[in-house]
Amino acid sequence: MRVLELASEAVPFAKTGGLADVAGALPEALARLGCQATLVIPAYREALASGLPIESAEMAFEVPIGTRRPVARILRCTPPGGRVDVILIANDDLFDRPTLYGGARDYPDNAERYIFFSRAALEWASRQQRPFDLVHCHDWQTGLVPAYQKLLHASSPALAGARTVMTIHNMAYQGLFWHWDMLLTGLDWKYFNWQQMEFYNQLNLLKTGLVFADAISTVSPTYAREIQRAPGGCGLEGVLAARSDVLSGIVNGIDTETWNPASDRHIPRHYGEQDFDDGKYAARVALAARLGHAAPDARPLVAFVGRLVGQKGVELIIEVLGRMAGAGRAHFMILGSGEAAYEQELQRLAASFPGTVDVVIGYDEGLAHLVQAAADITLVPSLFEPCGLTQLYAQRYGSIPLVRATGGLVDTVVDTTPETLHDASASGFVFEGFAASALEHALERALALHANRPAWQGLVRHVMRLDCSWAASARDYLRLFERTLAAPPAPVV
Ligand code: ADP
Ligand code: GLC
Repeated sequence: MRVLELASEAVPFAKTGGLADVAGALPEALARLGCQATLVIPAYREALASGLPIESAEMAFEVPIGTRRPVARILRCTPPGGRVDVILIANDDLFDRPTLYGGARDYPDNAERYIFFSRAALEWASRQQRPFDLVHCHDWQTGLVPAYQKLLHASSPALAGARTVMTIHNMAYQGLFWHWDMLLTGLDWKYFNWQQMEFYNQLNLLKTGLVFADAISTVSPTYAREIQRAPGGCGLEGVLAARSDVLSGIVNGIDTETWNPASDRHIPRHYGEQDFDDGKYAARVALAARLGHAAPDARPLVAFVGRLVGQKGVELIIEVLGRMAGAGRAHFMILGSGEAAYEQELQRLAASFPGTVDVVIGYDEGLAHLVQAAADITLVPSLFEPCGLTQLYAQRYGSIPLVRATGGLVDTVVDTTPETLHDASASGFVFEGFAASALEHALERALALHANRPAWQGLVRHVMRLDCSWAASARDYLRLFERTLAAPPAPVV
């Protein structure tokens, strides 16, 4: 099967979050199953500076965007050791910028940037000799692609017979723009209606993808159910419920080579299930040195790594730190960046509890690995979480995830109780209500078990053995693609 994957970020080229991990790893996993996979991403400054062997494909063409015709230059790269061809769409005005999306404030021309990317990606595909069977789009940035495939490429030999799958990584980001940006899409105004591209007078790129795609998936079965009703659907619950016959959930895998405590280049001592105590101790010594402490302390290390935004339950962490840090029963380490108010509040807590609360504001891939290796418990108290990767990384590094029961966290973490310890299904701690008291109670349960060394060590060994590799998830994607190919395409109304 010939698969075209389209995403706005992918490891190792450019990353702001879990989407990049997925878009980088899934095409490789599909290739291992025999698919011929090609990945298309924008040629951001970060990608061009990555040191990867990116070269010109000697192809350039104009892309109509409203009244302008910016040029797309095509670059290509096969990352060392990889089997996937990566195509990068270059236009320096649009993509040679300091950050991917604009940071705290989105770039004002993000509509134009991703309309251009989507249209250029399909234009490149339409110029290929061998036809594509399946076009797989990720998130709002590629939401126009299913519409373009059906409306602009109905007679392109390389694309006309393809089916499209739209994968949702987060309903909270829909690519909402003012209605005049419809002119940039090049599509007829007749599609700007409440059943297709319009959403309360705005242009909605994710909705466009959900309506025009032949099939829809999201990154966990629980999230697939949650988004078909409010508030999970973020206003698009009706659209999703109407397409429930082609909507499914597939839990993400993780890249078990990059995230492997037995070979990770970011940690001082490699380890496995048998010697995790030694590996974790070495990581804690290195982390303490990095944070300016003379030595690690003996208390359990409770960590958080992630974006500092409402989705991640940062306010619960702030409240629980305020309540628990004074008692000194654990050491807390937060690594993240995001909303200024959260960053300041966390830094204030670090200043109030020196030696007990460490806060590093910033994005640091290597430090994220070191923190997971050093930690005993990793907090993921999300308000909502489509899948979540940090809990999977935590498990692999022998840090027990403590999560709220939402989205993919439900599908990947089994609460520790006497019964689940007994039948060896326990894989973390889970709390239900979005309240600091519920998080605190779960943390108390985790710390109590931590004090029981044999039980804790058994739990750590068990979670380190869980198989979260891409193999199973990629097989599920392949089955979804096969199902979608066997069914007739979604009709264009
Ligand atoms: P989301 O995509 O919603 O941010 P995920 O859990 O799926 O959540 O993925 C987050 C990814 O981003 C993980 O790979 C995590 O390690 C990484 N990450 C998030 N914040 C940081 C940070 N400040 N420094 C390093 N890595 C981070
Ligand atoms: C999104 C979600 C996260 C998911 C990631 C990759 O960023 O917030 O839960 O793991 O995409 O699918």
